Amino acid sequence: MKKNIAILPGDGIGPEIMAQAKKVLNAISDKYGHSFELKTGLIGAVAINQTGEPLPESTLDLCLDSDAVLLAAVGHPTFDNDPDAKVRPEQGLLGLRKALDLFINIRPVKIYPSMIKFAALRPELLEGVDLVIYRELSSGIYFGAKHERDESGYASDLCAYHENEILRIAHPAFKAARQRKKKVTLVDKANVLASSRLWRHTVEEVSKSYPDVTFEKLYVDNAAMQMVLAPNQFDVILTSNMFGDILSDLSSVLGGSLGFLPSSSIGTRSSVFEPVHGSYPTAAGKDIANPTAMILSVKLMLEELGMNEAAKEIETVVDYCIQHRIGTQDIHPKYEYSCSQMGDLISSIILDGIEILNEKNLDSSVSTII
Ligand code: IPM
Ligand code: MN
Repeated sequence: MKKNIAILPGDGIGPEIMAQAKKVLNAISDKYGHSFELKTGLIGAVAINQTGEPLPESTLDLCLDSDAVLLAAVGHPTFDNDPDAKVRPEQGLLGLRKALDLFINIRPVKIYPSMIKFAALRPELLEGVDLVIYRELSSGIYFGAKHERDESGYASDLCAYHENEILRIAHPAFKAARQRKKKVTLVDKANVLASSRLWRHTVEEVSKSYPDVTFEKLYVDNAAMQMVLAPNQFDVILTSNMFGDILSDLSSVLGGSLGFLPSSSIGTRSSVFEPVHGSYPTAAGKDIANPTAMILSVKLMLEELGMNEAAKEIETVVDYCIQHRIGTQDIHPKYEYSCSQMGDLISSIILDGIEILNEKNLDSSVSTII
């Protein structure tokens, strides 16, 4: 298969982790005979610095012309500390979500047994945890009318939804549940927000078409508590843009590292694959960032492109490394590797097989095996 991929490295650790994703894509194309045409575009702070725009038109055109988009990270602290900044890197990401009509953001949370002892929760709470967040990504309070701070000291953000925007994510969430543990939990704040009451009404109707799927509703404050108290009660969490943002960071601590969580954002015009984590500016340029979430985003992209065997192979190799605690410093590694060494290692294993690893050469020096 031949596919055009837009590569958006973005800010902070973005270029470093993207370089590892490209190594993995090269290994996959060598091994499976697929061909990937990779074209790079600017987004975020780096785009503002070079063009004045967080999402230049050329980047948008590149994405629209591609079969899929791989994005690393967006965000830079110089903009965070300036409340009056007229342009922000995040506008690039939000603009891309809107322009590509990315209406579903899928964030799977998987627990690796080797990581359980490093997670923030007691090990017994993590048994059986396997959930996925279906976050609405193109509407809600992120995109509602904004009134910026004025002289009177007033500002506002509108949280607005139309039922069509809810229907188009609700059906895929129920369909996904059918292939999993057959449960959907709608997370909202229907005791307070009118938009949440619309979600509740609409999703309740949808649930009637899926009698084989258990449907539950939780207020977001309770859901946050339940995610910590008993995370294994969840299967598919269906929620709005803002609640999904917050709950997905919370869910990352279940697995012991935000560095493991990939995501897919499915749109009507193209789809984007990116880590859940941000641009981690303090690690930028140090070659220490964990490229796993980025590499697993490649895996999600290959699945979406129908390259299932290649996707499975990436997952197997990543699982193997995490299971043997071969990784970057954030995962309490037994064998500590840099970001670029992880990319070399994973792509070498894809090409040459797991046999290239054994305890002896892992212990002695990474350079002997990669
Ligand atoms: C995410 C991020 C973004 C969001 C930021 C960078 C705008 O936190 O993808 O979860 O809030 O959606
Ligand atoms: Mn977030």
